Amino acid sequence: VKAAAIIPAAGQGKRMGNQLNKQFLSLGGLPLLLHTCTALAQVLELEQMIVVARPGEEEEIARVLSPLIRKERERWLIVSGGEERQHSVWNGLQQVPPELALVAVHDGARPLITPEIVRSALQMAQETGAVVVGVPVKDTIKTVDEQGLIIGTPERKRLWAVQTPQVFRRDWLLAAYQQAWQEGFLGTDDAALVERAGYPVRMLQGDYANLKITTPEDLILAEALLQARGGM
Ligand code: CTP
Ligand code: MG
Repeated sequence: VKAAAIIPAAGQGKRMGNQLNKQFLSLGGLPLLLHTCTALAQVLELEQMIVVARPGEEEEIARVLSPLIRKERERWLIVSGGEERQHSVWNGLQQVPPELALVAVHDGARPLITPEIVRSALQMAQETGAVVVGVPVKDTIKTVDEQGLIIGTPERKRLWAVQTPQVFRRDWLLAAYQQAWQEGFLGTDDAALVERAGYPVRMLQGDYANLKITTPEDLILAEALLQARGGM
């Protein structure tokens, strides 16, 4: 199976409360985005790697990823992102070579992804067309109105926290993004667009350690998880 990877890294990292885009923060002594891309690079099915950079940060991203890019110049592409994550992925999608049947979207901010999970997701997407990686939620989740009043308690055993990678047939993802674009729909993950376009999307159980670095404590957790992994 031949696939492309889109790696959105064009955010501002506002919730990190740091001036620097969190993609460049150090995790175990290496930039976060380098961890993410090194793990993805081990998946040989991913023939084209499209990293989406914040406008103005393209060169810094190229510098951070230079250990990977130097080795495989044709495999890596850096494109400029947009205002929202969806715009960034859309920009990446325009660069996917038509001969690659699958597209894996993986957040730059999920450095603890393992090649094994990516491979499982690709395999399942080849069979079914669309897969998102996620984990069953551990906490009970409530819906709450603007006044702070609890409106409902969805049954926990049916709730999953969604991560990336999310892997789709290229034609499905393109159609879904085109439809969202036309209708002005903005989703918080890629699957939402594909679901909305009427395609069946399946959940693949991933790993609780595949966290997204969003707030400062996530970086502390990630450091600990990385150390534990190295020690095993
Ligand atoms: N992302 C992107 N383009 C955007 C916004 C986000 O490529 N316009 C990327 C981020 O760089 C990140 C991933 O999408 O790798 C997940 O987004 P999130 O965790 O929200 O990162 P940020 O948007 O950078 O953080 P914040 O929302 O706190 O500003
Ligand atoms: Mg964001």
